[in-house]
Amino acid sequence: MVFSSSKLRETVLEWLAANVPSQRLQHVLRVEEMSVSLARHYGLCPLMAAQAGLMHDLAKFFKPQRLLEMALAEGLTLDLVDQTTPHLLHADVSAIVARDRFGVEEEGVLSAIANHTLGRPGMDALSCIVYLADTLEPGRGNTATLNALREMSFTNLTTAVYRTCDYTLTHLIEQQRPIHPRALATRNWFLQASRGALQPPAGGARAPGLEGQPIHLA
Ligand SMILES: [Fe+2]
Ligand SMILES: [Fe+2]
Repeated sequence: MVFSSSKLRETVLEWLAANVPSQRLQHVLRVEEMSVSLARHYGLCPLMAAQAGLMHDLAKFFKPQRLLEMALAEGLTLDLVDQTTPHLLHADVSAIVARDRFGVEEEGVLSAIANHTLGRPGMDALSCIVYLADTLEPGRGNTATLNALREMSFTNLTTAVYRTCDYTLTHLIEQQRPIHPRALATRNWFLQASRGALQPPAGGARAPGLEGQPIHLA
């Protein structure tokens, strides 16, 4: 078994089983699987994608105060929206947990975890695929829009990111929820990139040598 170490995967799964509801765990496993599929499709390292997918929601159920404290201790700059909606910090805090509790050192994996909710302008390809997998994994629904975005995620990463940003932003507006400025910045960056005005995301996690290796997700 690979997953760089199947032991790490087992340890993370045990921790998740004790710290998140089973429904959320199923979401996590689907994000892991879709991230691996996208990574293989784009020639990125499937093991890094699997790790990021598996650990992207570690802090999903941390209390708001804990999220704020951990983000501040890490020295993160908090926006007003972070302060009023600390739940949005669960992505950044999940990366802290992956690093400090599970010993993840790869910057690409940590960034992909941290970027899975709001994205980031210019984020690399691994971050893009975990961002897409989080919103588009099969459990999110079976609408025509979602299916079109899923198809797009396998044909054009850059366009898929900004269109998925639009999908999420539209929902936030409909539900009268706050929009984090980083989400808008991500959307604008990838919109511009899709029109050729900016360089598309780099494939920072390419590892052609790992392409043929088995990976166990269940
Ligand atoms: Fe999340
Ligand atoms: Fe998620």
